[in-house]
Amino acid sequence: MNNTIISIHDKKFTPLISEQEINEKIRVIAHQINNLCLQDIVLVSVLNGAFMFTAELCKHIDSFPIISFIKVASYQGTESTGNITQLIGLQENIEGKTVIIIEDIIDTGTTIDTIYNKCKEKGAKEIYIAALVFKPNAYKGKAAIQFTGFTIPNNFVVGYGMDYNGIGRNLKEIYVLQTH
Ligand code: IMP
Ligand code: MG
Repeated sequence: MNNTIISIHDKKFTPLISEQEINEKIRVIAHQINNLCLQDIVLVSVLNGAFMFTAELCKHIDSFPIISFIKVASYQGTESTGNITQLIGLQENIEGKTVIIIEDIIDTGTTIDTIYNKCKEKGAKEIYIAALVFKPNAYKGKAAIQFTGFTIPNNFVVGYGMDYNGIGRNLKEIYVLQTH
């Protein structure tokens, strides 16, 4: 594991999860999804953060899912604001389909609950949730999360799609904010 400390804007981050651990975990999640033998899958990827997770995950899914995107924003700096703004809506018809919502990270759960309800309104037959990272101590959402990559404490992370004020998404590892 590399131990390089990186600087983004005014903050320092240390390595938390390696590229290899991430890739292995994504294969495990894909395997779990494949084992369910789901039909008519629509992957609903939550932009911007989930782009990298979605790209890697979908390569290991056996069937031919439709891949769709929704864009929402809730975070400012290192805090969730609790207000969700929808920036790009869901274009595909998901009526009667099996939706798997793909998230980079689930924190308070406000975002995932909003998207879950939207998919339900649009007539999805069943809805699964896959999150690469989950912060159980912050979670106040209602939706059940079926596929979780990594469970972490309540710390701010960047990399593998996740940003700090717009920067850090291209990192192939996950880094955690240095607090001291
Ligand atoms: P929630 O609505 O509080 O669950 O926040 C979810 C969204 O906030 C995620 O989709 C991320 O885009 C962002 N987010 C939450 N925690 C972090 C973090 O530690 N680093 C970067 N982005 C985060
Ligand atoms: Mg996100």
